[in-house]
Amino acid sequence: MNTILSPHRGENDDRDDQTLRPRHTREFVGQKRVIENLTVYIEAARKRGEPLDHCLLFGPPGLGKTTLAHIIANELGTDIKCTSGPVIERKDDLAAILTDLNKGDVLFIDEIHRLSRVVEECLYPAMEDFKIDILIGEGPHAKSIKLDLPPFTLVGATTRAGMITSPMRSRFGITERLQFYTQEEMERIVRRSANILKIEISGDGCPEVARRARGTPRIANRILRRVRDYAQVRADGVITQTVADEAMHMLEIDVLGLDNIDRFFLRTIIEKFSGGPVGLNNIAVAIGEDEDTIEDMIEPFLIQIGFLQRTPRGRVASASACHHLELGEPKHAASGDLFTPTLDS
Ligand SMILES: Nc1ncnc2c1ncn2[C@@H]1O[C@H](COP(=O)(O)OP(=O)(O)OP(=O)(O)O)[C@@H](O)[C@H]1O
Ligand SMILES: [Mg+2]
Repeated sequence: MNTILSPHRGENDDRDDQTLRPRHTREFVGQKRVIENLTVYIEAARKRGEPLDHCLLFGPPGLGKTTLAHIIANELGTDIKCTSGPVIERKDDLAAILTDLNKGDVLFIDEIHRLSRVVEECLYPAMEDFKIDILIGEGPHAKSIKLDLPPFTLVGATTRAGMITSPMRSRFGITERLQFYTQEEMERIVRRSANILKIEISGDGCPEVARRARGTPRIANRILRRVRDYAQVRADGVITQTVADEAMHMLEIDVLGLDNIDRFFLRTIIEKFSGGPVGLNNIAVAIGEDEDTIEDMIEPFLIQIGFLQRTPRGRVASASACHHLELGEPKHAASGDLFTPTLDS
């Protein structure tokens, strides 16, 4: 997978996160409704002197879930402890984390859909009553005791809303879904990052970079760095529209921000499977990517721009995808409702 366009965290993203991650709601671009809601809940919790309700954030990778978790803690004026679903392997691991919290702290669990069943069940009483059952001793003499925890706020993040169990989901008082960013928001993000990184970018260079970043801030930041390299080596250091365009051409990213894998994915559906419907497993075999990668990284943006539909019978490529790839529409592509583009992801 092209690492520039991958919405997942890469090795170099840590450095970006330190410098570019917004720390307060006022710096956070876009997701207006989410920010408005959170601002109200945070202020209310502060006024009551209570911890904020547990909060579940979901949405595709790279849209700002981790960033928001830190912002929530910042705005609450509390500490944040970060961990992730697969890291908490046993009940004991969870107990150690929970008993280490201070009153009002934010506990951030990334990839919360990957918690094991046992750990998840242990988390329920902690979320509900701020209590945890601990087993003392071993074998027949083992005793279970209830331990009080300081009131805390759990912030969970997931890219897979469908994989959160319903008992888990029902224990979150606040659930917010992040959306892909609009072109205008992406331009503000590119401009902000360029300012922080002291990258010179012209008025027409900014929209050009923004347009190719698939509505995803993490990708925008990464593209911006690559285009800066190109500008410094092949031009006079300033990112103009032409420079951005040439750099993207070199990176094989097209005008909509699609890369080789996206195009290969769509072309496979259109040419090998007559536009669909085709099952995910068949596509996965045909293009040699695993199903998770396809579902997490390739499909959400293609669905968002109306190039792909997930139907009960399988994936369907839209007529606009055929046009974009300059391919003739497959026989049934022109025939009606299966090909209505959708903005729903
Ligand atoms: N609203 C925003 N405004 C400006 N920059 C943003 C915004 N959201 C995210 N970013 C930038 O994008 C980067 C990625 O965001 P973040 O790590 O929060 O994504 P994520 O949703 O947690 O992704 P993942 O699902 O992979 O964990 C951050 O380092 C930050 O610089
Ligand atoms: Mg994250």
